Amino acid sequence: MHVLHVVGARPNFMKAAPVLRELARRGLRQTLVHTGQHYDAGMSDVFFQQLGIPAPDVNLEVGSASHAQQTAQIISRFEPVLMEHKPDLVLVYGDVNSTVAGALVSSKLGVKVGHVEAGLRSRDRSMPEEINRLLTDQIADLLFTPSADAGENLCQEGIAPERIHFVGNVMIDTLVRLLPMATQSANGSSGGKYVLVTLHRPSNVDDLPWLRQMFRALYELSSEVAVVFPVHPRTRQRLSSLDLDDSSNGRLRLLAPQPYLEFLALQRGAAVVVTDSGGIQEETTFLGVPCLTVRENTERPVTVTLGTNLLVGRDINRMRAELRCILDGRAKKGSAVPLWDGRAAERIAEAIMK
Ligand code: UD1
Repeated sequence: MHVLHVVGARPNFMKAAPVLRELARRGLRQTLVHTGQHYDAGMSDVFFQQLGIPAPDVNLEVGSASHAQQTAQIISRFEPVLMEHKPDLVLVYGDVNSTVAGALVSSKLGVKVGHVEAGLRSRDRSMPEEINRLLTDQIADLLFTPSADAGENLCQEGIAPERIHFVGNVMIDTLVRLLPMATQSANGSSGGKYVLVTLHRPSNVDDLPWLRQMFRALYELSSEVAVVFPVHPRTRQRLSSLDLDDSSNGRLRLLAPQPYLEFLALQRGAAVVVTDSGGIQEETTFLGVPCLTVRENTERPVTVTLGTNLLVGRDINRMRAELRCILDGRAKKGSAVPLWDGRAAERIAEAIMK
């Protein structure tokens, strides 16, 4: 059997790594296609190195563009690659533009598609990722879900239950394997209590008055507790347009995007994480670190019902109040999520072999 994997953006890499390893262990032929959606060394190459992912067989080098342009470029450049390699199965990951583009090309050419991290729903169609999730799941043949709610969502949308495989969370496979190797970032916490921040969603960083308001709140917070903020390229551009990208000082540290191991160490050591990322809601839940999510909704509800995650929405006073609560030692306690155990890739491999 020949499996072709499509990856493109940072959060794909942690999800594909354990599946690539597990299928290699079972001796399957594999091809890795990188769409080039993320191309900076710090957003891509360093993850390949740290996660031990083999160099891509093909790089479509699409780079940044509008959604339509980027998705269209992936579609037109991936089609001949797929026709040349003729795999038996294409695996796509998560919810980025590379995911939906890879799935669409494959299904039109009659190649079976597996979606890893299927069934997650925020029910917010203004999020580009929600559209990618809905469309990918409709055309995928094998749907690998990370949590029970995801399977329920798919059944409600009319997906046949025999296509759905509840396998657990592959991102946690990577975390479990690499946590012992996580190093303390030199320019990160350097000891002491700190709040870790990441923000990159258009709903937060493309709304400049709101971004300025959040930034002011973080700046104020830093007089009390250190704030460590690795800045996504999109966010860096927006902060620069507000003349805020140079505001780093001893207490508020704006860093470059961090490599996987360094960021994992930062999460593990944080007093609380403030984020709008999907993956970080899951990782903090697994690590038992309090997480405040700056969104009105989440496609990962188990992180709220079982885990350490709290949605604070776009309400600066709510964010301040919840930060106060956690820093005073009154954080919500989480519990373990079923099948987030480091063995999701094994279950995916078993389902594929069947
Ligand atoms: C994408 C995903 C999002 C995911 C995020 C993780 C979609 C629709 N969104 O958003 O779900 O959470 O990745 O990072 O697929 N840029 C660089 N260097 C890079 C990549 C991007 O400078 O290597 C800049 C470009 O100016 C680009 C901007 O960042 O315009 C945004 O990149 P893009 O790939 O469009 O989406 P993300 O915001 O990263």
